[in-house]
Amino acid sequence: MIRRATNDDIPEIHEIEVKNFSLPWSEESFRDSLMFDDTLFFVDEEEGKIAGFAVLRLFPDEAELYNIAVAEEYRRRGIADSLLSALTDECDGRGTERILLEVRQSNAPARALYKKHGFTVLGVRARYYDEPKEDAVIMEREKQKQ
Ligand SMILES: CC(C)(COP(=O)(O)OP(=O)(O)OC[C@H]1O[C@@H](n2cnc3c(N)ncnc32)[C@H](O)[C@@H]1OP(=O)(O)O)[C@@H](O)C(=O)NCCC(=O)NCCS
Repeated sequence: MIRRATNDDIPEIHEIEVKNFSLPWSEESFRDSLMFDDTLFFVDEEEGKIAGFAVLRLFPDEAELYNIAVAEEYRRRGIADSLLSALTDECDGRGTERILLEVRQSNAPARALYKKHGFTVLGVRARYYDEPKEDAVIMEREKQKQ
């Protein structure tokens, strides 16, 4: 079930975060995200457990996907699909012109996910990521006609 994240979800979200990213967000960063009106922060809950989460920031004409991850034991069940659709639907509904994101060049699962949801490659930021050093692929999705 997709719903908005709450303060009580943060420890489980952070646990997924540290397992998936070499330079993880702190619990405090996630808590801050809950307080900003311009941030969409969704979780997927399965049998009382947080299976995945996604964070997107809204700017006046565009949005940026900051973070999306699904716990390993819940992968390949369409949870990221549902999280991303919830975000893109809300952006389309609000009239957001485009959504941008960065992804590690080697992250084939995430790149396939974004492509499936209408994102295309806009460019590459050389050596953007640390630990390990790697290029970032910048992807963009334009507003879908309603
Ligand atoms: C990327 C990630 C969020 C996908 O989550 P998921 O819930 O397993 O994805 P879904 O089951 O919803 O799959 C949706 C689509 O993503 C793509 N995808 C997901 N896992 C994939 C894999 N292992 N290989 C190739 N494509 C994959 C496919 O296009 C898939 O659609 P399909 O099932 O019709 O083929 C998950 O692998 C993850 O948390 N990775 C670590 C964190 C991360 O890299 N986040 C992105 C940072 S930019």
